[in-house]
Amino acid sequence: MNILAIESSCDETSAAVVKDGTKVLSNIISSQIELHKLFGGVVPEIASRKHIEKINPVIDEALTEADMTFEDIDAIAVTYGPGLVGALLVGLAEAKALAYALKKPLIGVHHIEGHISANYIENPEFKPPYICLVVSGGHTHLVYVKDYGEYEIMGKTRDDAAGEAFDKVARAIGLGYPGGPKIDKLSKEGKASINFPRAQVEAYDFSFSGLKSAVLNYLNQCKMKDEEMIEADIAASFQEAVIDVLVTKTIKAAKEKGVQQVAIAGGVAANSGLREAMQKACDDHQITFQYPSHVLCTDNAAMIGAAAYYDYQKGIVHDMTLNAVPNLKLGDK
Ligand code: KG4
Ligand code: ZN
Repeated sequence: MNILAIESSCDETSAAVVKDGTKVLSNIISSQIELHKLFGGVVPEIASRKHIEKINPVIDEALTEADMTFEDIDAIAVTYGPGLVGALLVGLAEAKALAYALKKPLIGVHHIEGHISANYIENPEFKPPYICLVVSGGHTHLVYVKDYGEYEIMGKTRDDAAGEAFDKVARAIGLGYPGGPKIDKLSKEGKASINFPRAQVEAYDFSFSGLKSAVLNYLNQCKMKDEEMIEADIAASFQEAVIDVLVTKTIKAAKEKGVQQVAIAGGVAANSGLREAMQKACDDHQITFQYPSHVLCTDNAAMIGAAAYYDYQKGIVHDMTLNAVPNLKLGDK
């Protein structure tokens, strides 16, 4: 089954052709980062306009790279939430038009379900049940994946998402947007010598705004006392504080559910410190650790094609009334 998948929920316009849920024949990603950098973050109106310009060329390129025409496509998949409403609508309108004109099924996909499903692409052996830590710019969810498409959200952030915290701290230390990859890189040159707080939130929920404030306070104090600031140490200490909490809660969740597999997903899953720490913790507890390659961690359409395949197997198809749902809950179809 060849699925043409479209993703436009934030600042990446992406189209992919995915065969049988796991074989990525093409995965074209047009990033708007350079444009939004000027403003220090994603500007929704600019994102929508850019998606309109890019969506058709990106789809053409995805078909060309897969060596296919629309005739070879069996279904159209698209992210319909959560995300920026104007951005989502561009992908959705395109997908609906294609499904209607080609008389092919339309499969609406939850963006987070896409991130989680990125884990199936490179390792066909990997199957539910497992615990998935979803950490992106907009979300921090600890999810028990009981089966394909069956999710129990065990915990989530009460304030900032993990990626958002990375971006805000990076901005405060002058690293620019997006901050995650920059903090990741800088951390390697520093020592985690500053003891930033690990938020003690009950059960499996997270909180990152206190940590962000602690970093800002530290920066202000250094300035007031005219003390030298070692940016690499601040980055390493902040990153370690985030990772500590993420890893501890993920392992605890796996123990509680009695599952032997842990996965990570979303942009922050590209973080080298998180991958290392999670690998070590999983090894210590005889748990198998699965993570997608970098390009499948950040927003891309291949992950949407993978999720759509498993949804379709469960009989999920949508009609032309499908609308963008900016705050779509995981598990809603
Ligand atoms: O999944 P994603 O591309 O978009 C959303 O759905 O939000 O995630 C983007 C987020 C940004 O906050 C970015 O700073 C973060 O992922 N990110 C990272 C790394 N690469 C991207 N955070 C930490 N370390 C990284 N290497
Ligand atoms: Zn995302």
